[in-house]
Amino acid sequence: MNHYGTMKVNAQGHLEIGGVDTVDLAARYGTPLYVYDVALIRQRARAFKEAFQNLGVKSRVAYASKAFSSIAMLQLANEEGLSLDVVSGGELYTAMAAGFPAEKIHFHGNNKSREELEMALDANIGCIVVDNFYELGMLENLCAARNRKIRVLLRVTPGIEAHTHDYILTGQEDSKFGFDLQNGQAETALKQALDSKWLKVHGLHCHIGSQIFETAGFVLAAQKIMEKLDKWHKLYGYFPQVLNLGGGFGIRYTSEDNPLPPGYYVTEIVKEVKHQVNMRRLPMPEIWIEPGRSLVGEAGTTLYSVGSSKEVPNVRKYIAVDGGMIDNIRPALYDAKYEAVLANRPLAKCEETVSIAGKCCESGDMLIWDLPLPKAGSDDLLAVFCTGAYGYSMANNYNRIPRPPVVFVENGKDELVVKRETYEDLIRNDLHLRVPLAE
Ligand code: LLP
Repeated sequence: MNHYGTMKVNAQGHLEIGGVDTVDLAARYGTPLYVYDVALIRQRARAFKEAFQNLGVKSRVAYASKAFSSIAMLQLANEEGLSLDVVSGGELYTAMAAGFPAEKIHFHGNNKSREELEMALDANIGCIVVDNFYELGMLENLCAARNRKIRVLLRVTPGIEAHTHDYILTGQEDSKFGFDLQNGQAETALKQALDSKWLKVHGLHCHIGSQIFETAGFVLAAQKIMEKLDKWHKLYGYFPQVLNLGGGFGIRYTSEDNPLPPGYYVTEIVKEVKHQVNMRRLPMPEIWIEPGRSLVGEAGTTLYSVGSSKEVPNVRKYIAVDGGMIDNIRPALYDAKYEAVLANRPLAKCEETVSIAGKCCESGDMLIWDLPLPKAGSDDLLAVFCTGAYGYSMANNYNRIPRPPVVFVENGKDELVVKRETYEDLIRNDLHLRVPLAE
């Protein structure tokens, strides 16, 4: 069994997280249930921050809230001194509801609406990461109409192919995100923004992809950006205060994954930027990063109750649980791999290889293929590890199944932070047919 954070097997032989028995949690809150190990989130946040502090570099570690956004989670991020990356009006609204300091919020997105930009300006957030010319023009007009300035980062696409799944690759040239660094787009955007009376170009941003296990891509991105910055410094006398190298640091979903410790990425990034500025006699910019998955991914475990099973003779045995692609769409969407144990007897001997199916009416609703497990039945609880990032945040109501609740655990205590959706919640926005449409 892979051990994440404070996870262990307790005296009852049950899986325990944050000093709390998962069997007890399932009994009290029901299943499916997302359980977050708060100590592990804190540990990750501190590891990123301390790495920068040890290197004596001005920095910001922004939590990419798309990985898991809820009021309590954002309050925890704030408690840990993180900044925040939001990508929609909804994420910004959640941040404001959580009382997150506006100055520490950065707004991303490749198609922010006028309403979203107005909301960001009204909230006085720290900066807007401008993605394209359409947004540049719109933001300029909105600021002019309000007679106010705003800090911006320009998102550039450095033309790097990080080794990860195609859908979560973002830094390559053929991408919907950002101003292309190589073909002059980024330079045109910079000139336009520098000429603006309303936009203060605080820096540049890039994000090369997600679930990345090596530092080479980040180093290369820093190199490519510094090359251009050197040129722009000479041409326009501009040098950014901030260089934001995005998120994307990999985590261990299964024993086949070998992620680097957070500090390692930070050190390699800082080393390269320092080298580049020294070589080019430029000032050292602040380095910002925005990890999502690496802060919360390994901290999340989903508990399910085991239900029906089906044997396909000589082929496989399916074991179904009470959740699936509603609470974790990643296996169906990205062929993502997970590991799991029986939470009520994690050390029991594995007797067979089974495939874990969800309960949705769709053959692709599988959580894990070919998992070694003891013979499991309806008294058993399945704990799927590493579901803390893009699990709850990508949860949906397919088949009108309510979303599971979220519980935080720490130091032997548990706290419900997101309630289970109810059937009433599901029909909250539905309206009755008043006039038969045929009449
Ligand atoms: N910054 C930007 C601009 C991003 O686009 C992303 C993720 C992040 C930061 C955070 O990346 P992280 O550290 O979490 O890898 N739904 C997919 C992941 C999509 C990531 C999108 N952008 C998944 O479940 O794997």
